[in-house]
Amino acid sequence: MSLVRLEDVTKRFGQLTVLDQVSLKVEPGEIIAVIGRSGSGKSTLLRCINGLEPIQGGRILVEDDVVNDPKTDLRKLRQKVGIVFQSYNLFPHLSVERNITLAPTVVKKMPPAEARKLAEEALARVGLSDKIDAYPDQLSGGQQQRVAIARSLAMQPKVMLFDEITSALDPELIGEVLKVLEALARQGMTMLLVTHEMGFARNVGTRVVFMHHGKVWEQGPPAQVLGNPQTPEMKSFLGSVLH
Ligand SMILES: Nc1ncnc2c1ncn2[C@@H]1O[C@H](COP(=O)(O)OP(=O)(O)OP(=O)(O)O)[C@@H](O)[C@H]1O
Ligand SMILES: [Mg+2]
Repeated sequence: MSLVRLEDVTKRFGQLTVLDQVSLKVEPGEIIAVIGRSGSGKSTLLRCINGLEPIQGGRILVEDDVVNDPKTDLRKLRQKVGIVFQSYNLFPHLSVERNITLAPTVVKKMPPAEARKLAEEALARVGLSDKIDAYPDQLSGGQQQRVAIARSLAMQPKVMLFDEITSALDPELIGEVLKVLEALARQGMTMLLVTHEMGFARNVGTRVVFMHHGKVWEQGPPAQVLGNPQTPEMKSFLGSVLH
């Protein structure tokens, strides 16, 4: 069974069609790099998968939960589908530990000691074991973004969605965050990530999905899609990002 399945998904904001009959399957362990121009619908795609946006047509499944079924418990669904944004949205008045344990203790009703252990494990995975008692403003942007990833990992999601998580970082901090993503990929985490990092898409991605005008315009293995684009739109996009 696919982990995530979109079937003819249409999303509109008023008159504007932002996702136009998008179909996409994500299998366990896949690392899908979603690329495309500004406004092509990349963020909306991720937000719909996480149930943050209602859709106007089609169906989205995560395992056998139908995301757009009004009966689906979205809080439960979001335990399976983690999402990390460009702006990491840590609570500034809470320690790193508390930022990470908040959701497990409140949403999953986990005992504090167990949640602390989970926070330690999650921080180890992002290489920040020594920062458990720090506050967000004592961390660099890259470290804060890694805490945001750890916070999402602590919910033990089956799939992670990343929306341009390195775009707001100073260039020298991007590498450490990409390294964390690479490690997650090696550990078998299934992920969909919107990224401008073409090197990462090529080297770590198992598939590249090029969005254009709300459609999946081209997709395939990274070497094929990036190395041998089939459409003028894809060629032109690659020209604009590689030069
Ligand atoms: N809440 C909203 N209300 C109205 N229109 C929206 C809303 N969110 C997004 N849109 C529109 O939907 C389209 C797709 O937006 P989306 O954010 O998914 O693009 P994107 O591919 O992520 O772009 P970028 O690379 O700039 O992040 C855009 O035209 C945008 O203006
Ligand atoms: Mg976006």
